[in-house]
Amino acid sequence: MSGAAASAARTGEAPATTIPSSSDSWHNRPPVTLLYQGSALDDASSLRRFLAAASPRPRFGRVLMVDPTHFQVLHVLNPHMEGNLGSVDADRAHEEWSAIRRTYESLGFPVTVVEGIDAFPDLVFVANQILPYVDADGAPALVLSHMAKAERQGEVPYLTESLRALGMHAHPLRTIMPLEGTGDAIWHPGKNLIWGGHGFRTSEEAWEEVAELTGANVITLSLVEERMYHLDVALMPIDETTAFSYRGAFDNESWARLEAGFERLIEVDAEEALHGFALNGHSPDGKNLLLPAGNPHTRAEAELLGLTVHELSTSEFQKAGGSIFCLKNVLP
Ligand code: ARG
Repeated sequence: MSGAAASAARTGEAPATTIPSSSDSWHNRPPVTLLYQGSALDDASSLRRFLAAASPRPRFGRVLMVDPTHFQVLHVLNPHMEGNLGSVDADRAHEEWSAIRRTYESLGFPVTVVEGIDAFPDLVFVANQILPYVDADGAPALVLSHMAKAERQGEVPYLTESLRALGMHAHPLRTIMPLEGTGDAIWHPGKNLIWGGHGFRTSEEAWEEVAELTGANVITLSLVEERMYHLDVALMPIDETTAFSYRGAFDNESWARLEAGFERLIEVDAEEALHGFALNGHSPDGKNLLLPAGNPHTRAEAELLGLTVHELSTSEFQKAGGSIFCLKNVLP
């Protein structure tokens, strides 16, 4: 651990802190703040202040997907993949993937598609290799992940090369610690603030550098349930005050952070969260919800909120431990 952000958070001086520093890397940067697990700032009212102090952020609008032609379960990287080796029905996967793409397009979100490649059967889960953000000059940029699993590490340079034409700055990490992009980085709707999961695929240490690079505030959350190995299968924000989540995915302190961070935190049951991937849906606009099919309770709760629910089957991708949210990224 190094850097002003971490030490300020750990010494427990003012919450929602602007961290003054004379070092060059902080020069001309917007204030960077980070709320760590175990921080002395960790009580509901300072967390709310921390969140309120985050600057506004418009939702990103360009969807990125990877063609599923080369998708298959060829190894076991998470508990969902056990017993599923070689079992993906390629035609069905293609139909499911195409329906997700069409849904985004019909809602007015253009979809950029990158070609897959035989060498990387998990590349289709494009939430993981990059963390898109807007840099201090207002330009779209990417933090490049350090994939935790050796089998997926080659995906990052492959995808970076494939995205070169988009002209986004791609920032590698200095740290050697793992970070799996928007699999563990969930933007708080409307805020320049990231909920940062750690425990299985991303290390808590990596969040410090993410805060520094992106200028976003970061609140870390500790994941404790192996089947919820990424934050994006455990937390589904809808708007600034509303999110769906699963209690069993988090330790007590992290759950308290979520309760403080979302006025309306709706609990999804174990069956829908762990087996239905209900929390791996995505609301691109706070009005529509793309929801993995077969989650009637979550659907009903979403409709009570006034959301238009688009149920989409993702049976083939669930064999690999992923669903709608994992199958896309969203670019500024
Ligand atoms: N088989 C992939 C893995 O274990 C699934 C990744 C799902 N992505 C996600 N963002 N949850 O890495």
